[in-house]
Amino acid sequence: MASSMTIGYLNGEFADLASLRIPVLDRGFLFGDAVYEVIPVYQGRPFRSEFHYQRLQRSLAQIHMDAVLDREHWDSLVHDLIERNGGGSMAVYLQISRGAESVRNHLIPKGLAPTVFGMTAALKSRSPEVLERGLQVITREDTRWDRCDIKSTSLLANILLYSEAHEQHAQECLLHREGQLTEGSSSSVFVVRNGRIYAPPYGPEILPGTTRDLVAELCEANGTPVRVGPIDMQELADADEIWLASATRELLPVTRVDGHAVGDGHPGPLWRAIDTRFQEYKQESAND
Ligand code: PDD
Repeated sequence: MASSMTIGYLNGEFADLASLRIPVLDRGFLFGDAVYEVIPVYQGRPFRSEFHYQRLQRSLAQIHMDAVLDREHWDSLVHDLIERNGGGSMAVYLQISRGAESVRNHLIPKGLAPTVFGMTAALKSRSPEVLERGLQVITREDTRWDRCDIKSTSLLANILLYSEAHEQHAQECLLHREGQLTEGSSSSVFVVRNGRIYAPPYGPEILPGTTRDLVAELCEANGTPVRVGPIDMQELADADEIWLASATRELLPVTRVDGHAVGDGHPGPLWRAIDTRFQEYKQESAND
């Protein structure tokens, strides 16, 4: 599937990804002056896309950019990308930069035409091994900036932290700021202790996660609502279960943190219950 996903979109044009070009003075390239979204697609249908368009709109507003496209046009672009890339399961990426100028200029210019780019990528299915054994993670100080609530393409700290996790044979890096858990380098986090599910509060240091919000809905429906509040690193170390959530990974159990087993070292019963609901919800929304 991955090899057939080659049709991208750039400023009104659909073409082979490898042939699309942006000017070197694009502010996304020069300054990371850009935001993005990742929308999962199952059976050819975008999953909970309205929440992604909402977040995209919020990210744009936070960096003082206009709406660029309205929801209907985002939706039609996303559907076009899905169709041109063969349907099925995939992730759609939308990236919007402030555009390209004729000079290099830190100051935000007025009236620049934004660069709008879209592409698809294969959505890796969750391996039976990961579902059986869970993920390993490391923990690190959160070295990102103070506006992680904006889904910015400036991901340098995230990619360094994520790569460090991989060097340590782990699959994610959980971050903390002043002793409090924030999130993963590319995922939201939940902690389970004594049958209760906890998540860190939203704020400037955390991305509001579309998957986290769905998981919170499913936990509520399960009679085990998520308790939102600060989580310190000792609480993480004492957790019975830890979960990661993201649009591309769905809901995954963590079974080792910095080499230590989480709970009994196996994916826990609450994860299993909520993940089952997640899979049912996915199936229902693909069918309705
Ligand atoms: N990342 N926090 C961070 C820092 C993230 O990068 C992501 C997702 C999330 C979860 O958000 P959502 O559930 O809406 O995907 C939280 C995506 C998958 C990415 O950048 O590829």
